[in-house]
Amino acid sequence: MSANDHAFTGKVAFVTGAASGIGRATALAFARAGAHVALADLSSEGLKETARLIKKEGGQVLALTCDVTDEAAVRSALDDTVRACGRLDAAFNNAGIEQAVKPAVDVTKDEWDRVLGVSLTGTFLCMKHEIVLMRQQRSGVIVNASSGAGVKGFKGSAATPRPSTASSA
Ligand SMILES: NC(=O)c1ccc[n+]([C@@H]2O[C@H](COP(=O)([O-])OP(=O)(O)OC[C@H]3O[C@@H](n4cnc5c(N)ncnc54)[C@H](O)[C@@H]3O)[C@@H](O)[C@H]2O)c1
Repeated sequence: MSANDHAFTGKVAFVTGAASGIGRATALAFARAGAHVALADLSSEGLKETARLIKKEGGQVLALTCDVTDEAAVRSALDDTVRACGRLDAAFNNAGIEQAVKPAVDVTKDEWDRVLGVSLTGTFLCMKHEIVLMRQQRSGVIVNASSGAGVKGFKGSAATPRPSTASSA
């Protein structure tokens, strides 16, 4: 998507994990392509910076502090998006955390639960509530971030799940 591509003018995009990394870069790309972008993340500081970068380029942005493992928070962030921006055309479910690379026998149940809670359950909760809104407007596109380890397992990465692929688990 180039900065001159206005393919998303008039569209609304919701991006989770938008406070840094791939989520921030995707949010900026959506904004450069003309979308009104709703940013969701745990980190309000990181969200402020992503919003600042988008506004600096003249883009439209809404920042929403949201824990994707909390269903009520996910639903509320999506409802706020539709209330403020009018619709929901695209969703990028990208919030995720990585398991420290180590043998499966050394992964604690707490670590396992945390990775699956954010990366797998969080993605499911976002999809569930995005689909409700997109069905109402009879259109919409959802993309889930994945990992190479969701396609092909590799040493030291037992807990790398994504519903869009299979899962290392
Ligand atoms: N960077 C890579 O090489 C790579 C490779 C494969 C997959 N991924 C996946 O891509 C996604 C983004 O990766 P990244 O490198 O940009 O990571 P990152 O750590 O820079 O960004 C992840 C974001 O998710 C947010 N987040 C974490 N838990 C959250 C929660 N419960 N609710 C809401 N937000 C939460 C973090 O605050 C952070 O802003 C992740 O899901 C990651 O697993 C990344």
